[in-house]
Amino acid sequence: MTTNNDYRSPLILVTGGGGYVGSHTVLALQQAGFQVLILDSLERGHRDLVEAVLKTELIVGDIGDRPLLDWIFQTYPVTAVMHFAAYIEVGESVRYPDRFYQNNVHGALTLLQAMVAAKIPYFVFSSTAAVYGLPPEVPIQETCPCAPMNPYGRSKWMVEQMVGDLGSAYGLKSVIFRYFNAAGADPHSRLGEDHHPETHLIPLVLQAAMGRRPHVVIYGTDYPTADGTCIRDYIHVVDLAQAHVLGLKYLLSGGDSEVFNLGNGQGFSVRQIIETAQRVTRCSIPVLEGDRREGDPAVLIANSDRARRVLGWQPQYPDIEQIIQHAWLWHQHRHGSARAEE
Ligand code: UFG
Repeated sequence: MTTNNDYRSPLILVTGGGGYVGSHTVLALQQAGFQVLILDSLERGHRDLVEAVLKTELIVGDIGDRPLLDWIFQTYPVTAVMHFAAYIEVGESVRYPDRFYQNNVHGALTLLQAMVAAKIPYFVFSSTAAVYGLPPEVPIQETCPCAPMNPYGRSKWMVEQMVGDLGSAYGLKSVIFRYFNAAGADPHSRLGEDHHPETHLIPLVLQAAMGRRPHVVIYGTDYPTADGTCIRDYIHVVDLAQAHVLGLKYLLSGGDSEVFNLGNGQGFSVRQIIETAQRVTRCSIPVLEGDRREGDPAVLIANSDRARRVLGWQPQYPDIEQIIQHAWLWHQHRHGSARAEE
């Protein structure tokens, strides 16, 4: 590993830079002229994408490893930290909550303590709409009370509160992004979504289109929505990445700590996603109707006016057909030959 001191532009430490949103954000940071150092355990991140596409320094390690963090901050002139490394699967969080509190909460606290000790003042945090739980009204504003309904959402909400408290105590400046449903892929198929196991709707639908799954199951058809299925606000991962670059610039130019929702403000039902995917892929997608999945709110739609107003954020790919098209191109690129998903 090189530790050259030739950093002519701010160096950003990105934890979880080998993951889905993290990797797209690294690319966006590089395109915006920042230098990036990735810290990723590779438990769920992808070494091949870091090496072949991002071509930046990768430290393989854990965010909970304080000696490693201290070494990183003593060795590299890090200006800011963007923190993506976390477990994200809601069902897993219900089965193994301790893992989520260990990795997402304890890991984040260790990272924050190391940052404070090293006097690194800027923190950008990857949070989630899951902090809202069952929102009393949609579109959801950032002022909506947080009432997460599962350990995953609680772990993110705990970190949000820790970040706020450390800001008050030590002057840490932060931007917290609450993503709605991250979707899509790099338009040139260099990066994309690749979770194992996969639980998210759009990749599952595309796997069914490719014949890698026999069908997709709709979780609940009796919701109080027009077609009875859940409605979500799908936001292109490249637009999420762009928001992170803007959030970082906002902090670097003296902005105060702030929380931002990131979504398109438009909802699509599960059936609408499947129909759109059928149009985009021109493949038939076998569908089964199943029971509700526990803990799924009927409708989640973001109000992202604050990000637009304060950061000047403007989603470049709000069209759901284009979001699915980019995901489809990526899936074909990544998994070209049809095979059954384990
Ligand atoms: N769905 C199905 N069948 C599937 C998978 C999903 O019908 O096989 C439905 C879900 O019930 C939900 C919608 O498709 O209504 C979207 O589900 P995802 O699992 O793709 O995404 P979620 O809305 O459950 O989760 C997303 C993020 C989480 C975050 C949550 C906030 O992925 O990290 O939003 O509520 F916690």
